[in-house]
Parts: sequence; C-alpha cells; structure tokens
Amino acid sequence: MLTSRGLVVVGAMVLVIVGVVWWRRPPVAAPKADDGAPPRLTPATSSSPFAGTASCAGRSCHGSLDAIERATSWQMEYTLWVQHDPHTRAYRTLHEPLAQEIARRLGLPRGAHEAAACLSCHTQPAASGPIQDSVDAASIRRERAAGVGCEACHGTAPRWLDAHLTKEWQTKSAEEKFREHGLVPLGDPAALVKACAGCHVGAPPGNGAPVRDVNHDLIAAGHPRLAFEASAFVANLPPHWKPRPRNENQLWAAGQVVSAAAALELLKHRTTAVWPEFAEYDCTACHHDLQEPTWRRPLGRRGALAWGTWYFSMPRWLAGAAGATGTPALDELKRIMAKPRPARDVAVEKIDAALVELRRLHAPVNAWDGGGPFALGKIQGLLMSDNVTSWDEAEQLYLAFVALNQTAKDTALGERLKSLLDVRALPPGYATPRGDVDPRSIVRRLRE
Ligand code: HEC
Ligand code: HEC
Ligand code: HEC
Ligand code: HEC
Repeated sequence: MLTSRGLVVVGAMVLVIVGVVWWRRPPVAAPKADDGAPPRLTPATSSSPFAGTASCAGRSCHGSLDAIERATSWQMEYTLWVQHDPHTRAYRTLHEPLAQEIARRLGLPRGAHEAAACLSCHTQPAASGPIQDSVDAASIRRERAAGVGCEACHGTAPRWLDAHLTKEWQTKSAEEKFREHGLVPLGDPAALVKACAGCHVGAPPGNGAPVRDVNHDLIAAGHPRLAFEASAFVANLPPHWKPRPRNENQLWAAGQVVSAAAALELLKHRTTAVWPEFAEYDCTACHHDLQEPTWRRPLGRRGALAWGTWYFSMPRWLAGAAGATGTPALDELKRIMAKPRPARDVAVEKIDAALVELRRLHAPVNAWDGGGPFALGKIQGLLMSDNVTSWDEAEQLYLAFVALNQTAKDTALGERLKSLLDVRALPPGYATPRGDVDPRSIVRRLRE
C-alpha cells in the first residue's frame, strides 16, 4: 500500500524522470537549406517577442557537441552554456525554499515562480509577463524553464534569426547588425555591460519587460543585495565563446560608467515608489554593531546617509582622470540624497543632469586602450589618494585593482590583493557587509 507520502515520492520520481527525458530530448532539428534559399527559423505566424533558447540549440546551429574550429564561432555555445552557465538555474532558483520564503514574506499571491517581480530577472524579461494574456503560453513556459536564455544578453531574435544565416550577414559590421537587426554587439565593452546591467543593477519598465528592482523590501525578505561590478561578473561568467583578447582596463572603466548610468535610471524610477529607497544607501549606515570604539564616528556623518557608495565612487574618480571638471551634478545629487527626506522632484532634476555628465564619459572610456587620459599610473594614483569612507568604496577599490592588475601584472600588488581576501570575505548567509570592518584598513593594506 502506498501512503500519501509514498505517492508524493513516486509522483516526484515520475516528474524527475519526465524532466530528465525532456531535458535530454535532442534539441530542435537543424535547419536545412536544400533549395539554396536561406533557411528560416522564425515561424511565419509567430507574434512572440523572442524566438526562444530552444531555437539556438540545433546540433548544426549552436548545439554542436564538439567545437567546429573552422567556423566563425565554435557552434557549441548552447552546449557549453547549458553545462556551465549560472543563468541556466535562474528560473529553477525561484522554486527553491529561499525564493518561496521571500515570496511569502513579500505577500506575493502565486509564489516566486509566477511573480513578474521575480521573473523579470530570473528569465528572459520578455517572458515574465502574465501568461493568460498571451497567445504563446507554451513558448513562454518553455523559455522560462531555460532560465536566463540566449536572447536575454544577445537581444531578442525575431529580427535577426533568419538574417544571421544569410551570406550578406558576414559582410555586416557589429554596429550594422545591431542597428538593422537588434543583435547586441557584445564585443563592445559598453554594450556588454549594458546587457548585464538590466538585471544585475536593475531597470525601470520598458521594451515589454516589467520593472526589475531588488529593493530593500526584497533584501529584507532574504534576497541577496545586488552589487554589480562588470569586471568581476564577466570574469565569473564561464565563457561559451572562442578565447579572444579583451582590454580589461576598458571593460572595468566602461563597467563603472554604464553601471552608474543604469543605477541612475533605476533611481529615477524609484522616486515614484517607496521613498527614499533604503537599498540606495550604504547598508552600514543603519546596520552596524553598537560597540565602541567604532571606525564610523570619526567620519562625522552625524545622521547624514551615505548615498550611492557602490555605483558612484569610481565614476567620480574616472571623471577626474579624464580631466573633466569633476562631476558637479552627481555631487549635487549626492548632497540631496544624503538628506533624511530628499525631495523627489529635485532628485529627478539632478538625476537627468548627472546622466548627461556620465554619458559624456562614455566615449573616452570606451576608447580607452590603457593609455591616454586614463593612463594606468594616473588612475592608480587617483584611486590611492582619495579618502575612502565606506565599505563599498573600499570593495570597489579592491575590485578596480584586481581588474587593472590583469594588464599591469604587478606581482607584489597581486600578493597584497590576495592577502586581503580574509578581511573582505563575508561569513556565509551574512546579508549585509560587515559593519565592524574599518574600510580604511583595506585601503591601508593596499597601499603598504
Ligand atoms: C533586478 C533583478 C532581480 C529581481 C527583480 C529578482 N532577482 Fe533574484 N537574483 C538576481 C541576481 C542577479 C541574483 C544573483 C545574485 C548575485 O550574485 O548578484 C539573484 C539571486 C537570487 C537568489 C539566490 C540564489 C542563490 O543560489 O544564492 C534567490 C533565492 C532569488 N534571487 C530569488 C528571487 C525572488 C524570490 C525574487 C522576487 C521576489 C527575485 N529573486 C527577484 C536578480 C534578481
Ligand atoms: C549572460 C549573457 C549571455 C547569455 C545568456 C548567452 N550569451 Fe552568448 N555571449 C555572451 C558574451 C559575453 C559573449 C562574448 C562576446 C564577445 O566577447 O565578443 C558571447 C558570445 C557568443 C557567441 C559568439 C561566439 C564566438 O566565439 O565569437 C555566440 C555564437 C553565442 N554567444 C551564442 C549564445 C547562445 C546560443 C546562447 C544561449 C544558449 C548564449 N549565447 C547565451 C553572453 C551571453
Ligand atoms: C535577464 C537577466 C540577466 C541578465 C541579462 C544577466 N544576468 Fe547574470 N544572473 C541573473 C540571475 C537571475 C542570476 C542568479 C542565478 C541563480 O543562481 O538563480 C545571475 C547570475 C550571474 C552570475 C553568477 C553570480 C553568482 O553569485 O554566482 C554571474 C557571474 C553573472 N550572472 C554574470 C552576468 C553577466 C556578465 C551578464 C552580462 C553579460 C549577465 N549576468 C546578464 C540574471 C541576469
Ligand atoms: C535607512 C536605514 C537602512 C538602510 C540604509 C538599510 N537598511 Fe536594512 N533595514 C532597516 C530597517 C529599519 C530594517 C527593519 C525593517 C523591518 O523590520 O520592517 C531593515 C531590515 C533589513 C534586513 C532584514 C533583517 C531581519 O533580521 O529581518 C536585511 C537583511 C537588511 N535590512 C539588509 C540591508 C542591506 C543589504 C542594506 C544595503 C543595501 C540595507 N539593509 C540598508 C534599515 C536600513
């Protein structure tokens, strides 16, 4: 006799087996072009805003089991991605106990895996809307199950899927492929960072996607705080592409400027919601030990909140290196945001001005080859001379040196960075940075 618990176990086993069979199913057949015409992958009738990860997975598309050396790409990108990439688990995560608990604490009616507030980043954003409104329910379900699929980074494919199989495609520049077809030029550092920032920093609603926001409500409910730094996150993404030289200085600098702009776009949206949004501030301003003595008192903040310590310290340094007259709008925004109740409309005005300021940095930063206005020595000098007053700034400084040292290859600096691992590491499950670590001790040890 099966008890009800036994039935659940058997049921679960059947589900697992069905799941494994589904997962092992050979990917969709490769397109054939017997009549000489370019093959079509886009169903003529589909109105879906995305083509779906499954449409990239054919054995002779990107699902080859071996690298095809003579082709423009290995053609095994899907195969590598599905085996190694953390994004494949993004949707599965929403079924796990922590995610369900977060959803319960937030009072989301149908669980994390059905909530746009979670799906917007834990799958292709265009597949995160309510299913009943859509004619393509099956393709939406399939795409969600893939996690954060190919088109979340490369751009939604209906406009380039067929075109990218034609001969003319090979003659187009990356810029043309983007402008005419919407294929994101991920070889360009700014475009690459922008592709990640929508989910790793967050974004206002747009392009068919709902708002993407890990605010203090989500954090307090148990979500990890998002603290994106492009160099580190790209380094931690298992590559599914052919190895190619990448200018790490440029990626770091573009990462700082583009992430800061994304954070400002999100802040602008946040002025329309719960205000002020606590996730904008240095967490240790409110979360810290009460014991004396404390490193915090000499900073003399006296009740002022430290705003934007994660995303905005490095761009200010970069602007200095570029010889710009500082970042007056960003500095003014910082002053406004440090008030206990910053005025929303004044903040919005300054956000727009600060965005213009940041965009001015885009061109020089994206053209940086490691020399010129951002010469490495100059940057290092600037980073070292400034006063670090928060854990976030110290951590950004640390990550900057890790990134810049990939080119500089200073072994002594490399050793110092390694020796700081223990000071920086957070105990497992610790949701906030350590309020008891004096950030200046990290900088002092960098300087030694
Ligand atoms: C703005 C995008 C975004 C939104 C919205 C979002 N997440 Fe996440 N989530 C992430 C990212 C990015 C990570 C990975 C954390 C990191 O390393 O930065 C993550 C990690 C997690 C983790 C931890 C996974 C692990 O293995 O450690 C859980 C659980 C989670 N999210 C659940 C949720 C739930 C539940 C919601 C909705 C209430 C949600 N997320 C909304 C982007 C988002
Ligand atoms: C998290 C973002 C992300 C996702 C998801 C993603 N890619 Fe990529 N992909 C990249 C990056 C970054 C590169 C490298 C770009 C560069 O340096 O030029 C890349 C490169 C590629 C290339 C070029 C390979 C080469 O050797 O030049 C192909 C093809 C590709 N991806 C296919 C896919 C397919 C198919 C999927 C889904 C199974 C996928 N990608 C999912 C980020 C992503
Ligand atoms: C559509 C949203 C989305 C996009 C776009 C995206 N990510 Fe993610 N990323 C996530 C989510 C959600 C997770 C957490 C996955 C999980 O564990 O559930 C994640 C996890 C990661 C992780 C693992 C983090 C950890 O703590 O283990 C890395 C590294 C990463 N992403 C890098 C990138 C890079 C680099 C890009 C841009 C090229 C990018 N991601 C684009 C949503 C996204
Ligand atoms: C302006 C002050 C303030 C700032 C800044 C702030 N928090 Fe909080 N946080 C609070 C308060 C107050 C609570 C308790 C809220 C409640 O119980 O409803 C809280 C609750 C939390 C909790 C839940 C703790 C628990 O035991 O339930 C976590 C986790 C958390 N915050 C993390 C963070 C992180 C990470 C940051 C930085 C990104 C941050 N907070 C920034 C004031 C702040």
